[in-house]
Amino acid sequence: MLDRQRTTGIIPQMKKRILTGDRPTGPLHLGHYVGSVANRVKLQHDYDTFIIIADVQALTTNFDHPEKLRQDVLNVAMDNLACGINPDKSTLFVQSMVPEIAELTMFYSMLVNVNQLLHNPTIKTEAAQHHFEEKMPYGFLGYPVSQAADITFCRAHLVPVGEDQLPHIELTRKIVRKFNAMYASVLVEPEAKISHVSRLVGLDGSTKMSKSLNNAIYISDPPDALKRKVEQAVTDPARIHPKDKGHPEVCAVFAYHRAFNPKGTPDIEDRCRKGTIGCVQCKRILIDVLNSFLEPIRPRRADYEKHPDEVWDILKAGSARARTEGARTMDLVRNAIKIDYFPFPEAGKGHF
Ligand code: TRP
Ligand code: SF4
Repeated sequence: MLDRQRTTGIIPQMKKRILTGDRPTGPLHLGHYVGSVANRVKLQHDYDTFIIIADVQALTTNFDHPEKLRQDVLNVAMDNLACGINPDKSTLFVQSMVPEIAELTMFYSMLVNVNQLLHNPTIKTEAAQHHFEEKMPYGFLGYPVSQAADITFCRAHLVPVGEDQLPHIELTRKIVRKFNAMYASVLVEPEAKISHVSRLVGLDGSTKMSKSLNNAIYISDPPDALKRKVEQAVTDPARIHPKDKGHPEVCAVFAYHRAFNPKGTPDIEDRCRKGTIGCVQCKRILIDVLNSFLEPIRPRRADYEKHPDEVWDILKAGSARARTEGARTMDLVRNAIKIDYFPFPEAGKGHF
């Protein structure tokens, strides 16, 4: 057995590396912010941070609308940057522009049993959402294998994700262990860094804020859209008159107070339970809170919207750096599998 420390030590790294990211299926919403973006903005100071915009993974469910991807990639990039991702600290890159990930996916696909994928709980839930019953695309079933490549191509140590992603991280770890045991110990086995922030409910009170449920407040929502959405949000149905005693635990508006107005929350809770605050007033407070949260983010986003070329340049530089890391990993991987028949010194370089 090779010593993993020594193996990863081939490429000296000052900071531990994290890899995280999103599927670009639309702009990011407050659920993304609370669940992951806020965390990665903090982590980028202490870790060498790679952020993947997983457009190929988005294609596994949107293959019939590829024309949307370009705008969605741009939106997700602008949201990350506007929320405080600093491109000098973090490597923000596009999955499809790093072909080493696709190459690695192919090698990993030999190490995965189809049943493992069919039993993956996240795959099962998503397949049901997309009505894939008898016609599950092979690429969709296999996306966790591609996600293993997303994580390992840059030899990431940690993967900050929500709980729904755990089955994918477990699969990644299994693939890495199998690869290292079978060929040579060149891959880094990553660990999940679970975000315990509870997921943000939708405006309609359903368990998840999500684009497909049409119950989301977007980071990019202008003040009038934000106001309209909060005004229409579902509250405690037992409250008909402002003086009725309320149950904040069943109210979406209260969940947002908790996430964005922690200081004001005990008072809101108390007044809701006693019936001394009406929902209209409670919503007004929330609108102010969310507007001041978005205040520094909005002008930054507007600025990127005016200069999309700058955003593409950031993604190009990030993807180039990702390719350099990918090429290093592929050298190790090809050498381990012994399919490095002849060298191509130009591989992974000079593509941009
Ligand atoms: N599966 C993730 C999601 O649905 C997105 C993603 C793709 C990802 N590749 C990743 C997350 C690698 C963490 C690490 O949001
Ligand atoms: Fe929800 Fe606020 Fe109304 Fe209570 S007062 S039910 S927390 S909106």
